Amino acid sequence: MNMALMHILFIAIVISTANAKEGDFPSLDCKAENLGQYGQQSLLECVIKNPKEDTSILMVSWKKGSRTLLLFRNGAIQLQEPGFLFAQASWNASNMNVSLLITNTAVAHQGRYKCDVMTNNSPPPTELIKISLKVTAKYSKPTLTLKTDGTLTCASNGGYPEGQLRWSNERSAKLPNDPQTQATQTNSGLFQLSSKLVVGKESSVSDFTCSVFNASGGREEESQFQVKDEPKTEEQRKELDTATKIVAPVVVIGSLIAGLLLALLIYRRRSQNNRRPSTTPLMRGHVGVPTSDEVMMEEGDDKYPDNTA
Ligand SMILES: *[C@@H]1O[C@H](CO)[C@@H](O)[C@H](O)[C@H]1NC(C)=O
Ligand SMILES: *[C@@H]1O[C@H](CO)[C@@H](O)[C@H](O)[C@H]1NC(C)=O
Repeated sequence: MNMALMHILFIAIVISTANAKEGDFPSLDCKAENLGQYGQQSLLECVIKNPKEDTSILMVSWKKGSRTLLLFRNGAIQLQEPGFLFAQASWNASNMNVSLLITNTAVAHQGRYKCDVMTNNSPPPTELIKISLKVTAKYSKPTLTLKTDGTLTCASNGGYPEGQLRWSNERSAKLPNDPQTQATQTNSGLFQLSSKLVVGKESSVSDFTCSVFNASGGREEESQFQVKDEPKTEEQRKELDTATKIVAPVVVIGSLIAGLLLALLIYRRRSQNNRRPSTTPLMRGHVGVPTSDEVMMEEGDDKYPDNTA
């Protein structure tokens, strides 16, 4: 006997025992937690498991609270709220997929649902099946507006559940005095978020980012704003200040150098004038006496007649 055959046999046994355990009666199997997006279709999934060959559906009822949304009984749909239908197109009593489709999901659709099914060969329902729908809506890209009072306002709308706005700039991921997010709920149940930041104090920083985070802490969108008014002019003023601080020493040093050059020029000219007529008598007013350095040295060697006398 080869291994493949043994494998197949083993699988066949596993399947048959599993069927024997669950397969006594058809039962309803529903997805407990369903997610829906605002404005989109949502699916609440329920399927009859282990149907027999002759299983046919006698009754299906979908309820939210005490309100009946969809009711099939006596071979026909008896009640149907607008926007709620069987997920399977052209559903009939022999279709075991009794999932509910919500065509245009709203925040109000969030909550607990109940599905009851009766078939020709199912036992009376014994346990309540829990089905819930969670609705989410994406927040819009934040809009940033600067007011004349120096506050930068960030706003993001149309999200659900309640989210948060956070500020950051090129220096820090989170501003130290991060302002609180104001949240208001519109009639549709969606949230409008806004947050005000005073930008006058942050004069050296000009790029602000406002990010919107959803209820589970995921960043959804962000926008940047460059503050061009007060902080910018202050910055320019600072630049001007540093410019004059640089220019002033340059002027002082420049004039100093110019003065030195001038002095050097005058000195050189004067010394040249002194040296050229070195052979002609000129110095110390002793007219007619040779006053060149060599002559004076020779005289000096000769026992300093002038000083020692
Ligand atoms: C039930 O029907 C819906 C809509 O056609 C489908 O998305 C879903 O996968 C079906 N579920 C099962 C278990 O077949
Ligand atoms: C939050 O945002 C993250 C990242 O974009 C996303 O994966 C998650 O599904 C969102 N959660 C909700 C509740 O919207």
